[in-house]
Amino acid sequence: MANIIYIATSLDGFIARKDGNIDWLMEIPNPNNSDYGFSSFIDGLDGIIMGRNTFEAVVGFNQWPYTKPVFVLSNKLNKVPDAYREKAKIVKGDIGGIVESLRKDGIERIYVDGGKTIQSFLQRDLINEMIITRVPILLGSGIPLFAEMNFETKFKLVDTEILNDSLVRSTYLRSP
Ligand SMILES: NC(=O)c1ccc[n+]([C@@H]2O[C@H](COP(=O)([O-])OP(=O)(O)OC[C@H]3O[C@@H](n4cnc5c(N)ncnc54)[C@H](OP(=O)(O)O)[C@@H]3O)[C@@H](O)[C@H]2O)c1
Repeated sequence: MANIIYIATSLDGFIARKDGNIDWLMEIPNPNNSDYGFSSFIDGLDGIIMGRNTFEAVVGFNQWPYTKPVFVLSNKLNKVPDAYREKAKIVKGDIGGIVESLRKDGIERIYVDGGKTIQSFLQRDLINEMIITRVPILLGSGIPLFAEMNFETKFKLVDTEILNDSLVRSTYLRSP
């Protein structure tokens, strides 16, 4: 079982501009049109949990990037738009309980996405692995990847690679 973060962040720790814009991510030159291993990462998962804000951002791309079931955390929505009914469903309640119930359904390796969502998982110490890609930009402000916590959580660096001569992707595993 594993709950995994896979995310890109600015050097100052933001995952989007304040208004949710990720133009700075889309503008990174990508001459070989690489997905930087995203599809093979998705292949290794059983499902994805994301916050409602991230779900709405992805819906706005007009191209559904996931081949695994998506669970959208939302207290506000009761169902996803009809076009996404086969792809995603709303989940509510305590995060620990949601993860437990997914595991009972065989969903063991879970990609956790969205700033507030990641922070909720970290606050419950429910993240086992973090794959973080640093983009060489200081946004100055925006939606943060991490929030204040009242305890420390240690991770072990297991891999770092430079992508496209500009991005630094590091993989960390939760250590005891
Ligand atoms: N840089 C990247 O790689 C990357 C990756 C992913 C997302 N993003 C960007 O990040 C932004 C979204 O992040 P975000 O921090 O705004 O939010 P988020 O985590 O995507 O969504 C947060 C929302 O999820 C719902 N929610 C319900 N239960 C929750 C719980 N226990 N914990 C957390 N959320 C819960 C709430 O909505 P309700 O009001 O419906 O309850 C909450 O406002 C978007 O702009 C997206 O494009 C960037």
